[in-house]
Order: sequence, then C-alpha cells, then structure tokens
Amino acid sequence: MDYHIQISAPTPDILGEIARLWNGNATARHDFFPWSAALLARLLVPAGNPTGRFLTAHHRPSNALIGFIHCNQLREDGYPRAGVVEAVMVDAPYRRHGVGAALLAAALRTMETFRPRPDIVDALGAWPFGYAFNTLADGSERSGVFMNEPDVYRLFRRAGFEVVRQSRVMRADIRGSRPRPIPPGCGFHIAKRTENTWLDRVFRGRELYDHALSRQNGQLLSRAIFGFMEAESRHQGQAVFSLFGVNTPYDQQRKGYAGINLSRLMEHVRTIGGESIEIHVYADNQPALALYDGLGFATVADTLMLHRRM
Ligand SMILES: CC(C)(COP(=O)(O)OP(=O)(O)OC[C@H]1O[C@@H](n2cnc3c(N)ncnc32)[C@H](O)[C@@H]1OP(=O)(O)O)[C@@H](O)C(=O)NCCC(=O)NCCS
Repeated sequence: MDYHIQISAPTPDILGEIARLWNGNATARHDFFPWSAALLARLLVPAGNPTGRFLTAHHRPSNALIGFIHCNQLREDGYPRAGVVEAVMVDAPYRRHGVGAALLAAALRTMETFRPRPDIVDALGAWPFGYAFNTLADGSERSGVFMNEPDVYRLFRRAGFEVVRQSRVMRADIRGSRPRPIPPGCGFHIAKRTENTWLDRVFRGRELYDHALSRQNGQLLSRAIFGFMEAESRHQGQAVFSLFGVNTPYDQQRKGYAGINLSRLMEHVRTIGGESIEIHVYADNQPALALYDGLGFATVADTLMLHRRM
C-alpha cells in the first residue's frame, strides 16, 4: 500500500478529516462521540494556538487521510518534561499495513525536537477516554494513560513503551446516594469553573464545576471537580457525570472530609438529573480506593498505563 506521512497544521480542513475518521471508526462507548472540526479546534487549538503536532498519513495517489497521531507537550500538570501521544487512529480498511507503527515512530522523532525535550512520553490510545486525571499527593494533577484495546497496546509495546501503572475506571450509581452530615461551622462552595486548564479544555468547553468543603473562615477542607458531557455521557441510557481532582489538603486528611464533600457532590449531581458518576483512579492509590469504595463506587474497567523514556 502506498502512503506518506506528514506533519499537518490543525486547519479546519484537516480537523474535519480527522473528525470524520474518528467518527467512522468509533466503536462501543466511543460512538457517543460525534466529533467535529469545531469541537476539535476548541480542544486542540485554544485561542488559536495549536497545543501539539499532528502527523497524518495519506493514501497515494488520492491523498485521502487514512490515519493520524497527535503528540503534545504537557505543560500544565507539574511535569513539564513529559510528552504525550494523545491519540492514534488508523482507518479500519488500512490497518495491518504498518501505518500505526510508522505514525508512532514519526511522532517520537517529532517529540525529540520539542523544547524542552521530553524525558518521558506517555501513551494515550484515544482521546475520549484516554485521559485519566489523577491528583497526586503534592496537589498537582497529572494525566495518566490508559488503554484497554489490545491492538493499540501492542503497537505501543513494540515501540518501546512499558507498563508503569494500572488505573481503574470506577462508577457509582447515585440514585440512592446518602449525603453525610456537614461538620459544624462548615459549608460548601459550588461554582462553575472559569479556568482554562488542560482539564477544562479536554472537557471540550462543556461545563465543569468546583465542589469544595470549607470552614467559615475560608479554610479549604476538601475539593473535587465534576461535569457532564451531554452527548458522550449517556451510557446505557444513564446520565453519567465525571469526577476529577479529588483532593484533601495533606494536613486535613483522614478526617472524613473527602467522603463528606463527595457524598454531597453526589447528592447535588442527583438533584440536577445525574444517575451515575465516574472517576479514574490509579490502582495503587489505596486512600482514594477506600474513599470511593465507601461511597459505593465499583470498578468498571481496568486500564494499563504506558510510558517510554526518550
Ligand atoms: C484520597 C483523599 C482525597 C482522601 O481524602 P480524606 O479527606 O483523607 O478522606 P476521608 O477522610 O474522607 O476518608 C475516606 C475513606 O478513605 C479511607 N482513607 C483515607 N485515607 C486513607 C489512607 N491513607 N489509607 C487507607 N485508607 C484511607 C478512610 O478510612 C475512609 O474510609 P472509611 O470512611 O470507610 O473509614 C486524600 O488522601 C488525598 O487528597 N489524596 C491525594 C489526592 C488523590 O490521590 N486524590 C484521588 C485522585 S483519584
């Protein structure tokens, strides 16, 4: 098969072709994702500035797009020297011809030219559920990597990526959720986020809310972020909200604050029509697993996280 790979600017034309490729290859959960050039631009070209590089594979002689990969430099998560392969997709009729491996090799070569040059590259198999946000003990947030598609996994393994961690997607049915009592002198702050962090952009311009428990003097006791992606989140007929950035300041941990904040968050989400809520968590994050377990979350997917040293 004759094709060539090039670096492509994220013009509306290219983004439109990528959206078409993505939508045409969507399977299972992914068919909740009707991408368009405009949605992709909002995520990948915020304020007119491309967030990374697109490598595209084109069939010869038609020049039709048959595959793409997006690679990026993570700048907003406290790990400035990490790069990420955010998406790789080869159109189904053109698979098994080495296009994915060639795109990945080209992406790694391209990332060598990034400044600062990444020390490590994370592998994300697909955009929609490729992001596993995890708040680390120091309060920073880092995108994890998760993939559970065997073909994508093999592709990355062959390119020298290693499994470094396991991650889980957990979900709770909140229709019967029980709010926990509010400690005396404490209250909640619930407000739409107006920030433009990576998380906010990944959420593709949909509304995200902060939900925080604090003392009346303003001292923060625990916080979390929640949101709903209308088109994407109606899974098996349910309105699934997403939960991110669960975090209790270090000196306030183990006092029940995260449990109180999340039980109230779940109650709030229930009153606005939510039926279940989902979170991604590292499989070795014992405090977080105990917290979610106590709130009725159960594992719905196990995922592998892959990295490659440059
Ligand atoms: C996870 C985290 C938010 C828990 O906050 P917290 O306010 O200490 O949690 P709570 O006091 O409400 O405890 C909730 C449950 O977790 C358990 N737990 C809390 N810390 C724990 C620890 N270090 N080890 C084991 N279990 C722990 C508690 O026993 C409690 O369960 P129980 O009520 O059934 O006894 C906190 O450890 C944190 O901020 N960690 C860093 C950020 C992070 O990893 N966030 C999760 C991202 S997915």
